[in-house]
Amino acid sequence: MNLISSRKQLLSMKHLSNEDIHQLFSMVKEIEKGNGPSPLQSRFAANLFLEPSTRTKSSFHIAEKRLGMEVLHLDGMDSSITKGESLYDTLKTLEAIGVELAVVRQSEVGLLNSCAEELNLSLINAGDGCGEHPTQSLLDLYTIHEHFTSFQGLNVAIAGDLKHSRVARSNAHALKQLGVNVSFVTKPEWQDHSLTTNYITMDEAVDRCDVLMLLRIQHERHDQTMSSTSYLEQFGLTKEREARMKDHAIILHPAPVNRGVEIDSELVESSKSRIFRQMTNGVTVRMAVIQALMKGEL
Ligand code: CP
Repeated sequence: MNLISSRKQLLSMKHLSNEDIHQLFSMVKEIEKGNGPSPLQSRFAANLFLEPSTRTKSSFHIAEKRLGMEVLHLDGMDSSITKGESLYDTLKTLEAIGVELAVVRQSEVGLLNSCAEELNLSLINAGDGCGEHPTQSLLDLYTIHEHFTSFQGLNVAIAGDLKHSRVARSNAHALKQLGVNVSFVTKPEWQDHSLTTNYITMDEAVDRCDVLMLLRIQHERHDQTMSSTSYLEQFGLTKEREARMKDHAIILHPAPVNRGVEIDSELVESSKSRIFRQMTNGVTVRMAVIQALMKGEL
């Protein structure tokens, strides 16, 4: 594993090879069987969340505790970042007092990468604005792998607010690298030509995809509005569209889900939906990532 072993940091999916991804999946399977990673007893992790989070923050906490770690939580309001301390100085401080792993969510794309060069502690990007969200991508990939066992030749459609989605950015790269045919559904103003030119309609997507990956509208990153009904009709998964999906197809969403906007509320817990399974997998996937970073076992 190139980046994980040498720099002890997971900042972008671009730093993981296919072999790295499959090695992590093998670790997840061992954890699921109860042959979990050796504990990281008494080693300190700090979760620094400067943007809101439910899933990522909670599942990192549970993953760290299951590994036997001591866990500190800092957010925007209770850290000296409110007094103007930089992210770099905050992380350097945590390192100086004995923290060995920092999990960071913050809004500035690339800021964590610029801090990382000068830091020795293990670092995980838990979402940087519209940039990347590598552990979300890994748990999405694991959920797909759990269902299909192979990525080669799968058709995945990513639908929603592409321009502002860090999840889409991480997944688009990783899926293409794994041999998946990836297509995209979005409004013209949310197209991102640095990501793709392969845009299709939602109706085309449901007919052809094996995996439909829906995205939340990132209202906190722009002020574009559209009625829920018309968004669902044009770009969302309605019951009529879901009925046309292939029998084996699955639905993913990183959540939080806006029920009735990107997906009909009744479909969130339907047989094709893996939305809550993604969250369950998030804990074991994050345990494997932490193990890989902290113990250099990859
Ligand atoms: N999927 C995700 O990152 O959710 P949270 O923002 O709740 O962590």
